[in-house]
Amino acid sequence: MTEPLPLIIVWRVTTRCNLACPFCAYDRTLSIPRPEADAELIARTAPQIAQWSHETGRTVLVSWLGGEPLLWPPLAELSRHYHGLGIRLSTTTNGTPLARSAIREHLIRHYAELTISVDALESTHDALRGRAGLFAQVRRDVTRLATEINEAGSVLLLRANVVLMRGTIDNFAELCLELASWGIREITCNQLGGADRPEFYPSNRLLPEQVDRLRSEWPSLRDHLASLGVRLLGGGAYLARMAASTRGEPLVVSDCGPGKRFLFIDETGRVSPCGFTGADYGIPLEELSASSWEPPAERFAQAQRCRRSRACDDCLSTQVFQKFAPAPLS
Ligand SMILES: C[S@@+](CC[C@H](N)C(=O)[O-])C[C@H]1O[C@@H](n2cnc3c(N)ncnc32)[C@H](O)[C@@H]1O
Ligand code: SF4
Repeated sequence: MTEPLPLIIVWRVTTRCNLACPFCAYDRTLSIPRPEADAELIARTAPQIAQWSHETGRTVLVSWLGGEPLLWPPLAELSRHYHGLGIRLSTTTNGTPLARSAIREHLIRHYAELTISVDALESTHDALRGRAGLFAQVRRDVTRLATEINEAGSVLLLRANVVLMRGTIDNFAELCLELASWGIREITCNQLGGADRPEFYPSNRLLPEQVDRLRSEWPSLRDHLASLGVRLLGGGAYLARMAASTRGEPLVVSDCGPGKRFLFIDETGRVSPCGFTGADYGIPLEELSASSWEPPAERFAQAQRCRRSRACDDCLSTQVFQKFAPAPLS
């Protein structure tokens, strides 16, 4: 019998951040409202999610997102609560909180996955994140964490996520090898997205010929990394999505099975099938939690059929295009 598919919930809990990345919506230097999630609502929802998971036999992975989630004060207690109920945990971090040994211990004890954002080598990464010395600091702390994971016999999986841009993509293979030497076990990438920082995007977005080169070099890089015990994730559909973006070709998705395998919850508690459709398909978490909690897949499917979001006519949701498709290890 095949295992029931896991449900992944990406939950943006804060819009505050300590870094100043010029490509990101949450750059700390931007004067914007900084809403944060309702920690009590998140805590109340935990047993409901756990019960649904128990009844359906489906594993749930909650992945905290920000801003910088590891700097949000309620997160540690919430994570203990979720983990205690059997919900798997993940988060994406800029790496700065890993300097604290208490945070590394907490992650080792309670989390299944940790994604660290690293966009380029040495001072190029520092410039892209607005902090001198950051690359060296993250290298030191991730390497420490990898050693501590081994010593503890922990299952915590270390993954790196790289934002690919015009000025950095040529060093992607070199960066992957560097990350492998830190103890990173999986590598994912995003193409630079444009909606958040229209002043940065035009001169830094990927060019069609760069993505064509990446596609041709991908299999050998993937195999080389596999020989080092590192998985380069992402399928052919993901690289095709990048190529279409560089050519300005929209990719229409008529039915992505919204809400069946993936949910996005933003800091206002709005649940949607992805990070692009909250305004069109979003449902308040309070409403879902009022009855027996389950992913509102039927309601999302009906919305996608009857009052389609324009986002679906050029779908940029990375999970729909197999960002996490596993590569075999040789
Ligand atoms: C918004 S950040 C939040 C988590 C954490 N602060 C970090 O930097 O990893 C989540 C991910 O989105 C990536 N990201 C931010 N802005 C982006 C953009 N314009 N295009 C593509 N990826 C972006 C980051 O590099 C990071 O991997
Ligand atoms: S560290 Fe993350 S959330 Fe903060 S500005 Fe950079 S990409 Fe955005």
